[in-house]
Amino acid sequence: MCGIIGYTGKKQATEIIIKGLKSLEYRGYDSSGIAVFDGENIQAVKKEGRIVCLEKELETNPLSGNTAIGHTRWATHGKPSDSNAHPFVSTAHKFAVVHNGIIENYLEIKEYLQARNIHFYSQTDSEVVAHLIEYLYIGDVKDAILSAVRRLRGSFALGVISSAEPGIIFAVKKDNPLIIGKGENENYISSDITSLQKFTGSVVVLKNYQLAKVTASDIELCDFDGCEQSVETVDVSRELADDTHDFESFMEKEIREIPAALTRALKGYVSPFGEAEYWQGINRIYFIGCGTALHAGMVGKRILKKLLPELNLFAEMASEFRYDDFHIDEHTLTIAVSQSGETADTLSCIRMVKERGGKVLCVCNVPISSIVFESDFALFTNAGPEVAVASTKAYNCQLAVLTMFALDFARLKGALTKQQFEGFMADMGHLPEKAEETLKLNEFISDFSSWNYTRKSVFYLGRGLDYYVAMEGSLKLKEISYIQSEAYAAGELKHGTLALIEDGVLVMALVTQRDLLDKMHSSLIEVKSRGATIITITPFGDNAAIKDVSDYIIPIPNVTDILYPVISVIPTQLFSYYIARAKGCDIDKPRNLAKSVTVE
Ligand code: F6R
Repeated sequence: MCGIIGYTGKKQATEIIIKGLKSLEYRGYDSSGIAVFDGENIQAVKKEGRIVCLEKELETNPLSGNTAIGHTRWATHGKPSDSNAHPFVSTAHKFAVVHNGIIENYLEIKEYLQARNIHFYSQTDSEVVAHLIEYLYIGDVKDAILSAVRRLRGSFALGVISSAEPGIIFAVKKDNPLIIGKGENENYISSDITSLQKFTGSVVVLKNYQLAKVTASDIELCDFDGCEQSVETVDVSRELADDTHDFESFMEKEIREIPAALTRALKGYVSPFGEAEYWQGINRIYFIGCGTALHAGMVGKRILKKLLPELNLFAEMASEFRYDDFHIDEHTLTIAVSQSGETADTLSCIRMVKERGGKVLCVCNVPISSIVFESDFALFTNAGPEVAVASTKAYNCQLAVLTMFALDFARLKGALTKQQFEGFMADMGHLPEKAEETLKLNEFISDFSSWNYTRKSVFYLGRGLDYYVAMEGSLKLKEISYIQSEAYAAGELKHGTLALIEDGVLVMALVTQRDLLDKMHSSLIEVKSRGATIITITPFGDNAAIKDVSDYIIPIPNVTDILYPVISVIPTQLFSYYIARAKGCDIDKPRNLAKSVTVE
């Protein structure tokens, strides 16, 4: 949801900014721009479209200078266009600003400034920041920025340069991520660590309500009142995720990485239950997240329910949970699931839960992220960098970690014996090889997709744990192939939606839960007799009834019942991928989306 990058040093900044923007493009890709101090003035070039469009524009309008800020946009206020792209340059050209977040009181500020003859040229909320800083400037840039941010409501990560104080980037954080990268006689700012890894392994993570003054050789921090704060440097790995290697897309690469990612997720699990008493009193658990992460939370809830039915368990969309009246007290644990660690809705829930005295544990893929910093405990998925907007390997790892947590908690609560627990753990240890085996279905799924990519509608059906995997499969398909798709709990279909089943509708059935086999079979007969083509993902391919009702079977390997979601989702991930490829879609960057959703 918008990416910010900045550079100050001795090198030509434009090239560095473009490199950084390419790594940040997953955060938004409808327009981009760059502002450079060229030794005398601030110059900006902005272009609608992908970063390549900006690069092209820079060939005809080159920018030169050693201090610059850049931005890649996911539109909130104002459609994607050159004029709505960042950076925004103030009227007297003294300031250029890039912004990630939402300025809630922008209309108020805009009206105030317009009444003072300040002209606006975009429909964005962000433009007000540039003009407000210039309006408040009376000789000191830091003071002007601090006065401005104290007047802003909403969420904002800002990068600001000024011709009045060349060579400096000012960076401000409130509720949106911002990181400073430390180099040798050069420094950077960025929305994420991944874009900095190619430049440096040493970073400073800004905290909420901090302003940083970044020069090539120094970093100073203060709070919004201007009080100096200490600078803490963190060393990060420089593992790069910028190359698809031999794969056509990041999504394909990331699906292929599932077995290795699962191995890391399982090995990396560290039980959070150091102080048993702290956890014993928990009687209510909320799993929260958005999209794929929510689907993982739903599976986690269902597994924990099987193991500890006496607990009050809920899986809730973060965007709804925040504004609902759920009971939260010191016996409540909220498990926030997030790949990026920056999702604004999830982060807001964490803050709300903590304010109300609840405990928060997160399951996260990015160790240096706001969700990790703000949670009481963190479990890491260790899936490795995930670049494709559609989440795949991170989801498999979220499931693995949530299952480990559920088993661990059940053992803590005395619901599993040591022997039972170890039995499950041994089964989990086989997940990477089972995933590898499942990936061998690749060829069939690729062929099947090439016969089916013109379908107008695909239904995903399941019961119990399979229903949640159906939801994830369906989300992935619509997200990257734009095919209308719905997921249904198979038993619910006949209460209305069955009316949509007709000749030509494809139904993807998930049938992995032995105790629900007969019920699933009945539901499939209902859709079959209305003309649907059924493709069944199942370990029960030899079951005569399932064989009979299915037009095609995708045979997945056998695992323990509660572990099926980790495996059964893989054919749905491959299916979405191949369908989108057959349709010629932009697989890694689907329309209207961004990987990291940092606005509520
Ligand atoms: C779908 C997808 C999204 C994310 C959601 C939450 O493929 O990736 O639905 O799961 O935006 O993001 P995180 O997990 O970063 O909190």
